[in-house]
Amino acid sequence: MRPAHVDAPSRTALLAPLTGAVLEIGAGDGANLASFGPDVSWCGIEPDRRRRNRLLARADGLGMDVQVDDGFAEHLEAPDASVDAVVSTTVLCTVQDPTAALAEVRRVLVPGGRFVFWEHVAAPAWTPVRVAQELWSWRAPDGCRANRDTLTSIRAAGFADVQVSTFTQPGPLGLAIPFIAGHATT
Ligand SMILES: C[S@@+](CC[C@H](N)C(=O)[O-])C[C@H]1O[C@@H](n2cnc3c(N)ncnc32)[C@H](O)[C@@H]1O
Repeated sequence: MRPAHVDAPSRTALLAPLTGAVLEIGAGDGANLASFGPDVSWCGIEPDRRRRNRLLARADGLGMDVQVDDGFAEHLEAPDASVDAVVSTTVLCTVQDPTAALAEVRRVLVPGGRFVFWEHVAAPAWTPVRVAQELWSWRAPDGCRANRDTLTSIRAAGFADVQVSTFTQPGPLGLAIPFIAGHATT
């Protein structure tokens, strides 16, 4: 069953309540950094060196002490049950293996830990948006596969509870791109 449509939740609304050790996968150039509260000890992984450098510069500007490492979500260095929250924003479209990445997310979260996600997802089959997503994913610029049913993958990953909102964001050619945002608990 598809969840009901609601207004887009802001990333800040999802991220600001987090406390403790937070691991962000595919952290990019640190677009989310300013959304975290002061009680967060942030570390991240980002495979792209130039993005890591931009992230460090941004963290410096925000006065944040962060650690960002090279790495892939499918093989996290963090020990089992070692972080309070994992964050993924527009990353599960890009990883090579979302199932492996989600298994790693669950592995590193403490019991009761929170996986926060904000991801674009596949539109229903045969809609104009989905046709565009299939064409986009065939070329997969930046490795982005826009045709992934990421909510099904999250639900299948074995979290105890998944809370999700669905919404659309304006995309190329005036298309309304479907998104999911929410959190899952171990
Ligand atoms: C669309 S960007 C999103 C960046 C950031 N999360 C944001 O919201 O601005 C996707 C990011 O995932 C990173 N990435 C690609 N493959 C990855 C993988 N297997 N594991 C972790 N990150 C990956 C890319 O380098 C890129 O920075």
